[in-house]
Amino acid sequence: MTPHNEANRGDIKKTVLMPGDPLRAKYIAENFLTDVKQFNAVRNMLGFSGKYKGKELSVMGSGMGIPSIGIYAHELYEKYDVENIIRVGSCGAYNKDLKLFDLVIAMGASSDSNFAHQFNLPGTISAICDFDLLRKAVISAEKLDMNVKVGNVFSSDVFYNNNEDEWKRWEDMGILAVEMESYGLYLTAQKLGKKALTILTVSDSFHMKEQTTPKEREKSFNDMILVALESCLI
Ligand code: HPA
Repeated sequence: MTPHNEANRGDIKKTVLMPGDPLRAKYIAENFLTDVKQFNAVRNMLGFSGKYKGKELSVMGSGMGIPSIGIYAHELYEKYDVENIIRVGSCGAYNKDLKLFDLVIAMGASSDSNFAHQFNLPGTISAICDFDLLRKAVISAEKLDMNVKVGNVFSSDVFYNNNEDEWKRWEDMGILAVEMESYGLYLTAQKLGKKALTILTVSDSFHMKEQTTPKEREKSFNDMILVALESCLI
């Protein structure tokens, strides 16, 4: 047990899919997994273990932002012997070629967060994903015929940014999209010698403000989950 997780060691499998929203963890467990057992409800950060096509894995919410995913990922890796965390989330597109519901896989994560200050490094560390998880996710996306872009994302500390045009400077540096967690996840994995990857679906674009319907969002979420789950079988 930890202050944030009531699971016993062994309840959580080696690979954990992490959506931000705990109700999405429940949705994945109910719609994609068999033999499901809930292992956490502390703070309603729901977590479940089950099987996908016979392969044991877990799903758990991460909450929003680097501090939240930093807590849950640290505990999963260190207290529950988890080896792989695959974040499955949404992002806002900075890159103009990205369309709504395209997939973005975060090879690296840049940030305005000071999460890395704790490591006392005499420079700037790059937060990068695990290459093996990345390779498998790309193979899985290609097999499922999904539009996917792989590159650098921006993990922002703020959703409501007072500097309205700041995103253009990140776009200018080749950043594909903005979300709020991968930088914390990747650095936590790097520190603990574990593996992490983020797969995102584009939920909005900074170039064109388009509305999406709940049905469209559900389909694109399901497609992303399939990419993540199938990558675990490779
Ligand atoms: N900002 C931060 N995170 C996000 C966004 C955004 O615009 N869209 C989806 N996740």
